[in-house]
Amino acid sequence: MSLLFYNLLGMKPKGFGLEIEDSSLKAIALKKGRRCKEVVSCGIRPLKKGIVTEGQIVDQQAMANEIKILLASTKPKPIQSEFVVFSVPESKSFIRTIQIPKMSRGEAEEAVKWETEANIPVSADKVYLDWQIIDSQEKKDEILVVAVPKEIIDSYCESIKLAKLSPLAAEVDIIATIRSLTSAQEEKTVLIVDIGADITSLAICKNQVPYFTSSLPISGKTFTDVLQKGLGVSREKAEDLKEKYGLGEMQKDDMLYNIYSPLIENLAQEIEKSLVFYTESINAKNEVSEIILSGGGSLLRQMVDYLATRIGKNVVLGNPAMGLGNFKDLPADVIRNICPFASAVGLAIKAYNYEN
Ligand SMILES: Nc1ncnc2c1ncn2[C@@H]1O[C@H](COP(=O)(O)OP(=O)(O)O)[C@@H](O)[C@H]1O
Ligand SMILES: [Mg+2]
Repeated sequence: MSLLFYNLLGMKPKGFGLEIEDSSLKAIALKKGRRCKEVVSCGIRPLKKGIVTEGQIVDQQAMANEIKILLASTKPKPIQSEFVVFSVPESKSFIRTIQIPKMSRGEAEEAVKWETEANIPVSADKVYLDWQIIDSQEKKDEILVVAVPKEIIDSYCESIKLAKLSPLAAEVDIIATIRSLTSAQEEKTVLIVDIGADITSLAICKNQVPYFTSSLPISGKTFTDVLQKGLGVSREKAEDLKEKYGLGEMQKDDMLYNIYSPLIENLAQEIEKSLVFYTESINAKNEVSEIILSGGGSLLRQMVDYLATRIGKNVVLGNPAMGLGNFKDLPADVIRNICPFASAVGLAIKAYNYEN
């Protein structure tokens, strides 16, 4: 099974995007509008603990039920398509760029397999592997490889089939985020930081090709945890205060700033480490010129300003709605908070491209 261009059916059905994370499901379906793609329907459903744990679906029947409930609740009207492009987590996937000498497709298939196996900590027969040429030179090709353990994809497919849906494609969540937040024509090298509920995913990319990806245990939840501990309040209160006040005044005597300071400094250091690793080990010529924040965690007030000042780079909030039209029929909370939908929009664009 392929992960980049997988099409089970060899036809072009209307599909939708489904982001599956530990704490939530998000679905979006797109249609062709007059000038650009438009959102037909959209929804989010929080997941209770014990259905997905660290990126692995542990209760497939419960997941199938959650998917059905989510689809029935998408607005303005329920998504009825059975064809889905779904996400798998970056933390369980291996995204690599490799170089191989020019050779026939059949030989390249084998060469990519062996070269990938040398670069990942899992044997090639335990992963689904997909690849594409990203740069072709006279004597060699540069290749993007995505490998995901079979047990992960199989558990996701099983849940999707139990929900009476047909999988069109699986895609690593951060690759979907790159699609919705950047353009294939974009010559700049950018770092995407997707701060989700349970994990932060990073990707350094150019022309929508990820050259470096990684994930960190810092997340929306860890921000709530430190606030809950620091203030001695309930979890609900901490979540509420987090969304209302963000990082506070960003001054040394500010109580909120002092509480968050070690965590946000840790995040800044991890971002800097990725930038240094990219420059020293992957590409010294293409400096990262912009950091794009994504995911619900990036909505923390002052996060953009803090990281821009601390890291000394241009930092912006990603806008997954940038290439889409007609948002007026969507639920108000989705329109206000479109940022966390970046992966779901990217998956929906991939699903949309199957039919056009
Ligand atoms: N306005 C906000 N300020 C701070 N954090 C927020 C805000 N809105 C949402 N979040 C946080 O974002 C996280 C969810 O982000 P999301 O991208 O939807 O996660 P995932 O895709 O991993 O399910 C939660 O931890 C939530 O507390
Ligand atoms: Mg997400």
